[in-house]
Amino acid sequence: MSKSIKRIGVMTSGGDSPGMNAAIRSVVRTCAFHHIDCIGIYRGYQGMIEADFKLMNARSVNNIINKGGTILKSARSQDFRTKEGRRKAYDNMVDHEIDALVLIGGDGTFTGGMIFNQEYKFPVIGIPGTIDNDIFGTSFTLGYDTALNTAVDAIDKIRDTASSHNRLFFVEVMGRDVGHIALNAGVGAGAEEILIPEEDLGVERLLESLKRSKKSGKSSSIVVVAEGDKTGKNVFELAEYIEKNLPDYEVRVSVLGHMQRGGTPSCYDRVLASRMGVRAVESLLEGKSNYMVGVANDKMILTPLDKAVKGKSEIDAELLRVSDIMTT
Ligand code: F6P
Repeated sequence: MSKSIKRIGVMTSGGDSPGMNAAIRSVVRTCAFHHIDCIGIYRGYQGMIEADFKLMNARSVNNIINKGGTILKSARSQDFRTKEGRRKAYDNMVDHEIDALVLIGGDGTFTGGMIFNQEYKFPVIGIPGTIDNDIFGTSFTLGYDTALNTAVDAIDKIRDTASSHNRLFFVEVMGRDVGHIALNAGVGAGAEEILIPEEDLGVERLLESLKRSKKSGKSSSIVVVAEGDKTGKNVFELAEYIEKNLPDYEVRVSVLGHMQRGGTPSCYDRVLASRMGVRAVESLLEGKSNYMVGVANDKMILTPLDKAVKGKSEIDAELLRVSDIMTT
């Protein structure tokens, strides 16, 4: 392993996700295992600019594997988008003798890392942490599995009350650009309709389909809508349109929102975080940089950061078909 890296910085940036703490713990302990220093950088890139640093050791990350959120806090830094901001951040890296960075976050975090790497030849490795699962180069991002379980649990509860009152519920789940949460939580919770950004089947088709389910004897229904869905302007307008045109149903809307970003990480996310942290640190020590750690067919893989950022995380066509069959 390369001797040149003696101190690694770790940060979480962008929207938080369950499993980030488990990833921080893994990075810190892998550094300890290889006898190198680990510096926790608070509030992402903003903390890098303001030198908000703390030397961490294996004991600094006791009892956090099961905690949601991120002990290092997270932020979306405007200052890091400027050359001056990045210059300050680089000067702080030099002053504090930080040789490389592990960046835990989504595509915005990786874009920042790539620019920093290009400008200063600074070694960086990314760990994909976002509930949206919208990153190319990994089948699972950290927090996605937990968010799915949270969403399914919430939809199950909504189904109870929907059924008691014979109501039609529109449930909005997160997913700004992709429908992974909506599709998987929708199938898992047995939703009658699932609306995702990747497919705009139109509001008329939705209306027809809901009419058909009413005729076939369904007295209550759940429609899962991804935040970024293009069918209606927003979930409330969509619900209003359906209520107007399908007066047989009493319609309600439930927006799950940020609850999907919190909570105890699932076992899957904890294990994935532990594996990703080890791979990230050891890749840096092997002299690799500008990659993202991911998982494919249950094996750890590396994808160049630019591909991870530019590539598209495709929706599963087979699952779409399954979902169509299930809603018959
Ligand atoms: O990217 C993760 C995500 O949770 C999206 O699904 C959502 O659109 C966005 O973050 C919300 O961001 P904020 O926390 O800034 O409201």
